[in-house]
Order: sequence, then structure tokens, then C-alpha cells
Amino acid sequence: MQKKDLISIKDWTEEEIKHLFYTAAKIKGYQKTNLKFHPLEGKTLGMMFAKASTRTRVSFEVGMYQLGGYPLYLDIKANLQVARGESIEDTAKVLSGYLDGIMIRTYNHDDVVKLAEFGTIPVINGLTDLLHPCQVLTDIFTFMEYRGEAKGATVAFIGDGNNMAHSWLYGAARTGMNLNIVSPKDYQVNKEIYEDAKKIAKDNNCKLSLFEDPKEAVKNVDLIYTDVWASMGQEAEQKKRAKAFAGYKVDRDLLNRADKNALVMHCLPAHRGDEITSDVMDDRKHSAIFDEAENRLHLQKGILYLLMK
Ligand code: CP
Ligand code: NVA
Repeated sequence: MQKKDLISIKDWTEEEIKHLFYTAAKIKGYQKTNLKFHPLEGKTLGMMFAKASTRTRVSFEVGMYQLGGYPLYLDIKANLQVARGESIEDTAKVLSGYLDGIMIRTYNHDDVVKLAEFGTIPVINGLTDLLHPCQVLTDIFTFMEYRGEAKGATVAFIGDGNNMAHSWLYGAARTGMNLNIVSPKDYQVNKEIYEDAKKIAKDNNCKLSLFEDPKEAVKNVDLIYTDVWASMGQEAEQKKRAKAFAGYKVDRDLLNRADKNALVMHCLPAHRGDEITSDVMDDRKHSAIFDEAENRLHLQKGILYLLMK
């Protein structure tokens, strides 16, 4: 069945995700061999942003051009009437008459759900306070490029129980990866999402676990993942969080406790020296961080193609 949206990894089956990875790998191949591929000619993607972005904005914008389509940047706060109170429902209906798809980055996850529900065009979640599906799909795709198979591998997520951690719960569960999450006591993942993802994991023979000690969580894992301690919108909590997360830094000592060939990933932007040390970020043997960033382009071209062609 043709999928309409990508709101959460949960909504896509393992087969659909596999098909996305296959499609993205093919499209990446076209790009690397300078083959023109313009399936979205004449189509327009509206890119609605309420938060800052480097990777998401540039990779979606360039991705649309490369697929022959047109990306239209829409600054929610500065230009759109939603910032002045026009409803998401009305906005969804209006934009469905002009555009062929929407990518949205905003705070409230329900706004994205509503946009998809009231609009008739595909909606792609480019990050909410709750989830960041495009990033985690890219991360798993990148892991598979390095290691061939994701199923059965173990990932340790170190740090805030945030949008990245939540999408990792669904991403790991859907693709059969084991996931160890370790966060300070007051910064744990959303319990409902954890329980929900655990049901999917159980059916897929993989395990999602919460740990208390980062050293235990990384023991023998195949991938260490981390993210900033204060996400967009939490800037005022930066100092308080820095204290709470002090023992959650991905450094050489932690990396040495993982499998000797373990990869390290970070969605970026990073605060070097806080959640991850520079020597780990730049470690040529272990860090897949900048390949991961590049793959946002290729993986999302796969999403755009599958949803908008
Ligand atoms: N990882 C990620 O989504 O980066 P941006 O915030 O720069 O888009
Ligand atoms: N957790 C981070 C991810 C940024 C890509 C944030 O929401 O700011």
C-alpha cells in the first residue's frame, strides 16, 4: 500500500523500512555516479520550520532539487499565519491545494499529526519535541552501510530521554536491534513510548532496556549513540542539565568498554566536550558521525521519492 506520511517510525512496517533503505541506497548510487534522476519534476515540497536547522533544511532542500522538484522554505514564526493563530486544520487544507508534500519541524508533535490528518498530501516529520524519525532511519541505514546487518546488533543510547531516544526506541524495535538507554533519573524516556516500543520489540525478538550506569549500558555494544543534553527549546535549562548529565559523556573510557569495532554516532549539532569528546567524535576508526550527516540527504531522497512520486 502507498504510504501517505512519515510521522513516526512506528507507523512503518519492517518491510516498508527495508524498502526505504533499498530505495535510498539506489538513489545514493545514482548521485555518486552522476546519474540524473528526476521523478519529482513539477512537484513542490513545503518545508515548514518553527525551529533552527542545518542538516534537515539543507538536505531536504537539496534533495528536492536533485529529484527534479522544488523546495519551498516556510518560516512558521516569521511568515505563516499559523503563528498568528490560524488553525493547523485550516492550514493543512489550504496547503494541500498548493503543494505536493510538506516537511515540518516544530515543537508540538500533535500539530504534525493534525497536519497529516486534515491535509491530503504527504507529511514528513522533520523533528518534534517527541520524535525525530528521519534522523534515526538515517542512523540505522548508515549502520547497515558499515556493518551489513542491523538485526541483532546492540546500540547504547547515552543521555537525554528525548526525541532522539524515542525515535531510537521505535527504530530499534522495528529493525530488530537491541537498545540500551541510560539517562539521569529525572531525564528518562517517555514511559508510554517505552512500553509501546517494547511490544513491537518483543514480536521482533529484540530487547529494549533501561540502564542506570553508562559503563554497564555500553558493555560490548556495536554502536554508541548520543545527543545534546539540552534540546531546542530547553536552552534555559542548559546549566542545570550540564550538572545532571556530567557522568554521561561519551569519552575514550566509555568507548573502550564497547565492542572493539563499535561505531559512534551523534545526530548533530554536537556540543564538543559536553556529551561527547572531540577525540571520540573525530576518531577515524569508530566515528560514523559525518557519514551519518551526509546520509540524511540520501535517505530523505528515498522518503521523498516513495511518498511523492
Ligand atoms: N540532526 C539534525 O536534525 O540537524 P539539524 O537540527 O541541523 O537539522
Ligand atoms: N534533541 C535535539 C536533536 C537535534 C537534531 C533537539 O531536539 O534539539
